[in-house]
Amino acid sequence: MATTIKAVTFNNYTKPSGYVLADLPKPTIEGPDDVLIKVHAASINPADVKRAYGVLRIFDPDKFPARIGCDLAGVIEAVGEGVEEFKIGDEIFVRLAEAERGAFQEYVVASAKTIALKPTNLTFEEAASLPGAALTTLQALLTVKGGLQGKTVFVTGGLSGTGSAACQLAKNVFGAGKVITTVSTAKVGLVAKYLGEGVVDEIIDYKTSDPRKTIPKGSLDMVYDTVAEALSFLPLVKRGGWIVSIICLPSGPNLRGLFPNIPGWFGKFLDIAFNIAQYRAKLYGVNYDSIVLVPKKEELFDLKRWCEEGKLRPVVGKVVSFSDFEEVKKACTEIYDAKGVTGKTVIKIVE
Ligand SMILES: NC(=O)c1ccc[n+]([C@@H]2O[C@H](COP(=O)([O-])OP(=O)(O)OC[C@H]3O[C@@H](n4cnc5c(N)ncnc54)[C@H](OP(=O)(O)O)[C@@H]3O)[C@@H](O)[C@H]2O)c1
Repeated sequence: MATTIKAVTFNNYTKPSGYVLADLPKPTIEGPDDVLIKVHAASINPADVKRAYGVLRIFDPDKFPARIGCDLAGVIEAVGEGVEEFKIGDEIFVRLAEAERGAFQEYVVASAKTIALKPTNLTFEEAASLPGAALTTLQALLTVKGGLQGKTVFVTGGLSGTGSAACQLAKNVFGAGKVITTVSTAKVGLVAKYLGEGVVDEIIDYKTSDPRKTIPKGSLDMVYDTVAEALSFLPLVKRGGWIVSIICLPSGPNLRGLFPNIPGWFGKFLDIAFNIAQYRAKLYGVNYDSIVLVPKKEELFDLKRWCEEGKLRPVVGKVVSFSDFEEVKKACTEIYDAKGVTGKTVIKIVE
């Protein structure tokens, strides 16, 4: 049996062109709750390439060589003695905890407390595309007190990883009455194809039309901001409505949910910036939050159920092969550049 595995790594903070395909020791089970996963597919998230570029180095520095990737689908190859919920051969998907990171590699060890069975109707590539983007979106939509039944929701970037999950969850799971989204020109005709007929009620081509001018003032119950434009939409939101961002500066407590060890001074800086944003929103009578994903296994099981019920379909815009490292780096660069990508990009590890 092989004792080394191929893994995408970085040896210093770098853009994807500097990633290294390394031979690492095959990981082994260390704790009773661990499972060893043979990774079949992994998806690329903006957070993966931002971390490799060093944006988290202030509060969560990496040890080199550092591994990349948190979202994957695969098959359990071994289980720790305390694992009862899963068995060898189970097909699973997971958002790895930050400390377990390393989805762009052939095998990884994860805590059984973080994983869920793969939706039965999805391929490994489709399942790998979901965890980070859909869990973040779910947590953002759950932030809105009173729910979204019958409400009007504006999602930026409806064919991005997070936006494509948001349009579907808002309409098909949370019962929103109207979903409005922005996409770039070439994607206008693709929204219904990828998300299903009737999911999005109004599409705005943000390259030719400014949603701040197109959407009537005071008409939205919620804005889901994936593009760091949150407060610029304030006039569009009803009093008592919500803006939830996943990209503007979060509060210290929100960031601590994922990174408990951030320095006190950094937490205070975040709180000041966050409180200013919240104060600006209050002037309009609008609730504001900026959240950070905290992966929860129960919510992964919710995603599985919604996929199987046809309420959530993954949007996989591109699949690249792990065996073509140049293509993998190119795909990571496209995510880093954050322009023109459709849905999720997935690395197929087992051909
Ligand atoms: N807080 C958290 O825990 C959390 C979790 C997940 C993601 N995020 C962050 O959320 C952001 C989005 O993540 P993602 O996974 O959805 O990214 P993604 O799938 O890579 O989507 C980016 C896409 O958004 C579109 N876009 C760019 N600017 C736009 C604009 N002004 N209006 C509408 N669409 C625009 C672009 O497509 P076009 O060029 O074709 O428009 C681009 O390809 C990232 O910055 C990510 O780091 C945060």
